[in-house]
Amino acid sequence: MMTDLDIMTSISSTDLVLPPTASKVAGAIVRMREIVGEQFVLVDEESLADYGHDETEDLSFPPDLVVKPDTTEQVSQILKYCNEHLIPITARGAGTGLSGSALAIQRGICLSMERFNRILKIDPNNHQAIVEPGVVNEAFQNEVQKYDLFYAVDPASKGSCFLGGNIAQSSGGPRAVKYGTTRENVLNLEVVLANGDIIWTGANTLKYSTGYNLTQLMVGSEGTLGIVTKAVFKLRPFPKHNLVMLIPFSSAEEACEAVSAIFMAGIVPSCMEFMERDAIDWAISYTQSSIVVPANIQAHLLVEVDGNEMDQLYQDAERIYTALERFDVGEVLLGESAEQKDQLWMLRRKAPYAVRHNSVYKEEDTVVPRAALPQLLRGVKTIGDKFGFKSVCYGHAGDGNLHINIIKGDLDEHTWEQELPKAIREIFTLTVGLGGTISGEHGIGYVQKPYMDIALQPIQFELMRGIKRVFDPNGILNPGKIF
Ligand code: LAC
Ligand code: ZN
Repeated sequence: MMTDLDIMTSISSTDLVLPPTASKVAGAIVRMREIVGEQFVLVDEESLADYGHDETEDLSFPPDLVVKPDTTEQVSQILKYCNEHLIPITARGAGTGLSGSALAIQRGICLSMERFNRILKIDPNNHQAIVEPGVVNEAFQNEVQKYDLFYAVDPASKGSCFLGGNIAQSSGGPRAVKYGTTRENVLNLEVVLANGDIIWTGANTLKYSTGYNLTQLMVGSEGTLGIVTKAVFKLRPFPKHNLVMLIPFSSAEEACEAVSAIFMAGIVPSCMEFMERDAIDWAISYTQSSIVVPANIQAHLLVEVDGNEMDQLYQDAERIYTALERFDVGEVLLGESAEQKDQLWMLRRKAPYAVRHNSVYKEEDTVVPRAALPQLLRGVKTIGDKFGFKSVCYGHAGDGNLHINIIKGDLDEHTWEQELPKAIREIFTLTVGLGGTISGEHGIGYVQKPYMDIALQPIQFELMRGIKRVFDPNGILNPGKIF
């Protein structure tokens, strides 16, 4: 029987490649300049600091150098060199990650994919597109919309995050409840392996029953198994209409219960978001919104339905109202015009920024089967009371995905650094006990790594570690992440 300590020791003993020596770094700078050209290798302190953080807490891990390739062939040459010289290499998209996944914690090379920013092909006949990983999510959505097509995955950071980062984390966002996360929308990937080999992981088909699914293995692997240089995404017809409802509840737990009730009524909303009182209050004040929330309201659901026929959407809305009859619900705000909808969505989309603006915080990305959401929320509040912290929760309720923002507020450093990990452990233990897991869409990266033993059995670690060794025997790819 393994103890917790055995597990943690065996996890941290994964072949962790060392930070390169000064002479190795000097050699890498020369070779990288040959491969990508001098102006695309950055070594100045300011750039290294810039590329040393993402949007996770206040982490800072500057790499030794930043390299910006432009072609798959260059990535292949770079990886070949790193593999031969045992130089850590960490791929980076737009730096919007929330788990520290793109940070070069063992120094070495930060491989910035920002020049891979081309949409290579939009194929309306097959409802698919081929893109490079440095394309901004929203730019891709806007481009395919010109063909009346729809790329459904829209994380909160869609205006800046890269599709490559979305693949690395299997990013979700509000529409995942109907259309899936990145995982469900990727068909095929071009990947450069650690030794420089270039492969396609599957086929550009909607079905794939041809051996192991390497495409899905790559999605969510956080740059630890290979570097994605092209992606084939699934597209859909652009839904012509939608309706947005902001539904106020006098009890946050009841709001969570209503989530399942709406699905039970036969509706699959295109979005089903939860915001507790503080989240919406903070977002209202952050965005200077004119929306007024009555004093007795403790939480909101923001529900969107989409489709091609307005009549159908109004019928869906009716069904939702009927499902809500048994709950204590205030006056529903219905967004019909584009402006009204934007106003409602703004509150949800700005919630993370509002939290960040208010306090130092830590965000946990818990996910449970959706009917367990009320128990999760209740448990989080009980754990907060026990450890003396306030939490502000919002998230993708339809997916059972609750973002728990633990607020530092007036907590002293000792409590924040020493006691909080115990509280987080309790939250994750509760989450897993409810049939869920410790990250739904932000990934494990660096900050959730200490809690992986809650989510995985030792044998699962062994399997994952075995896969890692097959793909990356020298451990150069994003070392020190996930496990
Ligand atoms: C959101 C990000 C934090 O849902 O995942 O706003
Ligand atoms: Zn989210």
